[in-house]
Amino acid sequence: MTSTKLVTWRGSMALWRASTGSVVNIMTLICSCLAQLPLWGGPSSSTRNIRMPGGSVAVLAGVTSPEARQVSAIASFHNPQGYAWGYIRMRQLIYFDGSFDETFIEVSLRHPGTNNRNLTRRHNWSVYVNPVGVDAGVKFFQSRCVAAGYRWNPYLIHLAFPNDRDYYERECGPEVPLRCDVGDLSGRLGTIDVGDKRYVFVDRNLPLSGPHGIMNRAMIIHRENAGVERFACANIRPDDDIIKWVIVRKTPKFTATTFMEDLREVLGAPEWYLAADLQTVSFSADQQCVTFVIHFMGPQAGQLELDFSRLLAGGILPSPTISIRGVYSDPKRPTKVPYRTCGGLEEDDILGDKSDASWWNVLTGNLDDVGYTGDGSGSSSSSFMSRPSFLHLLLLLLTVTLH
Ligand SMILES: *[C@@H]1O[C@H](CO)[C@@H](O)[C@H](O)[C@H]1NC(C)=O
Ligand SMILES: *[C@@H]1O[C@H](CO)[C@@H](O)[C@H](O)[C@H]1NC(C)=O
Repeated sequence: MTSTKLVTWRGSMALWRASTGSVVNIMTLICSCLAQLPLWGGPSSSTRNIRMPGGSVAVLAGVTSPEARQVSAIASFHNPQGYAWGYIRMRQLIYFDGSFDETFIEVSLRHPGTNNRNLTRRHNWSVYVNPVGVDAGVKFFQSRCVAAGYRWNPYLIHLAFPNDRDYYERECGPEVPLRCDVGDLSGRLGTIDVGDKRYVFVDRNLPLSGPHGIMNRAMIIHRENAGVERFACANIRPDDDIIKWVIVRKTPKFTATTFMEDLREVLGAPEWYLAADLQTVSFSADQQCVTFVIHFMGPQAGQLELDFSRLLAGGILPSPTISIRGVYSDPKRPTKVPYRTCGGLEEDDILGDKSDASWWNVLTGNLDDVGYTGDGSGSSSSSFMSRPSFLHLLLLLLTVTLH
């Protein structure tokens, strides 16, 4: 019996991680939708903005719309020999007639090294035509990220004056984003700092897929103070989001945070590829098991999920799931974890006839009534079976809608 038993959603369940940076609790999201919107109503609106507590905006998209699909992409700066650490994450609705909505961009970048508090300002950033390789980690600026080629300009804007920079700068700007090269992000959105706050941008001229799209090209961060040199780079890849409840046997001094750190180390996954939603952590009534929501993200989300399940079943992972070509992993890296799925009788107790009610209670926040409690001191209840299997219905609908 594996921990996948409760539920696994595949990435098309769109979830925008808003400016607060917290992974929005998808349960809250669904509840908000149910309360406020006809989620499975007409196809009229394909993007739904949901204001979450704390003022952040969540966009739930692609669930109902027959005429559009959501595309997600990420440029992940996790090369240990690279010059930036973090990610640039992008989401966009693309319609089947080829037209597209704005692209939401989240930028979170700092200098590499655990305790590196260096802060550099005014970096230009661009999309270049080709993916990068080992050149992302070379020391000298002339050859760093050189495989990327030149800035992506599929509409061949301004080709009549290819070297007239003044002309281009008069033409392209935040007010006239369609006159910019597609790859000229700083031209439309301004520069970014590395090592400071996170950014959220909305870009009207950044197709993620299709013939003009930026998928599988390279994201370039230029040198500070509007420099031309290529400072850091990473490839733009599809970004999946697999959401899964895990049930883990509680070890002494268990915390979800150290659990996640241990698994990330074995899997080689940065935190923007593997994250727990700490708001969902709850303990079984007998204190033997812990359950919470985990997001597997990035281009290898599916493989991460498989390897994660293998590790919790006692397996060994000789090499990390996330690795970089040309970079060898630490030979002292652990290859297994001391955690196990909460199996056997207790799991049947939890997952069997109680699961509907547990889910319902987790969904509604009505935790007093159930075997799972946030503080671990709860008592179990006897009224599990009386509730309608609402969640099953919900999941069924979702599954049907997604395929
Ligand atoms: C900060 O990073 C830049 C770019 O890598 C480097 O040139 C500079 O020396 C660093 N400053 C400090 C204080 O480490
Ligand atoms: C950097 O971006 C700004 C616009 O934000 C632009 O004016 C400037 O020319 C760019 N610098 C280079 C070297 O491209």
